[in-house]
Amino acid sequence: MPAQLLDGVKIAARLTETVKKEVETFQAKHGVRPGLTVIIVGEDPASKVYVNRKHKACAELGIASEVVRLPADIAEAQLLQEIDRLNGDPKVNGILVQLPVPKHINAEKVLEQISPKKDVDGFHPVNVGNLTVGKEWLVPCTPYGIVKMLEISGISIEGKQAVVLGRSNIVGKPMAMLLLSRNATVTVCHSKTQDLASVTRQGDIFVAAVGKPEFVTKDMVKPGAAVIDVGINRVGDKLVGDVKFDEVKEVAGYITPVPGGVGPLTIAMLLHNTVKAAQLQLG
Ligand code: GUN
Repeated sequence: MPAQLLDGVKIAARLTETVKKEVETFQAKHGVRPGLTVIIVGEDPASKVYVNRKHKACAELGIASEVVRLPADIAEAQLLQEIDRLNGDPKVNGILVQLPVPKHINAEKVLEQISPKKDVDGFHPVNVGNLTVGKEWLVPCTPYGIVKMLEISGISIEGKQAVVLGRSNIVGKPMAMLLLSRNATVTVCHSKTQDLASVTRQGDIFVAAVGKPEFVTKDMVKPGAAVIDVGINRVGDKLVGDVKFDEVKEVAGYITPVPGGVGPLTIAMLLHNTVKAAQLQLG
């Protein structure tokens, strides 16, 4: 029997409805709207699309959103200065620097410049540390959205074997932490893992975040597993995930499509984190 489709658009709409209420409550209490500033450096076309989506989603929810567009050749020091300005602006509750940044800029330095209380991406070492000790303060949006998707879809995590393919700071590592703190038995595997298929076949929950188009084939998936595809890869004029959807859907129990799976959840959780950041700052 083919897998049940996990509809990210529908689940994100449900999550966004909750955030909308939180925005209204915040505004009633403080007389101001939560505010998000997104910084984009340069002209990367995919980044522009993502930033526009974030901006639009904020507007729809009553979050005050501003996009700061900086030239690709901006000096690193100037970018750090701009972040300092936003750190000190009380109207700005959340700051997000869209990645990737141009090669002459040290991304790590940039992320560390953002005040941990305004770090809606959850990438600052303080927030990474919080997550590691089980304190879910500002949690990276994509893995956080995946956990919400599993919970809303009635897929239990506790006691399950969870396999995370990919070890990035944005998805793989925080995903592993979130699953671990929900009592899954977690394995993180990656490009250097030996006999990868035998490892991924252990997963009752299998999160694929390798950034390689259609890398995950049906022989790598445990029958009945929940397969979460984080990949967004452009192949010609088509978007495909990290999972070979057509064949994996025949063995999986649940599967996310690309597009329309994980992507919408990331934005929903960014909105959630913006309100959370505003609450952290104003109480
Ligand atoms: N680029 C791709 N994904 C992300 C993300 O989650 N946050 C930021 N800041 N940049 C990204």
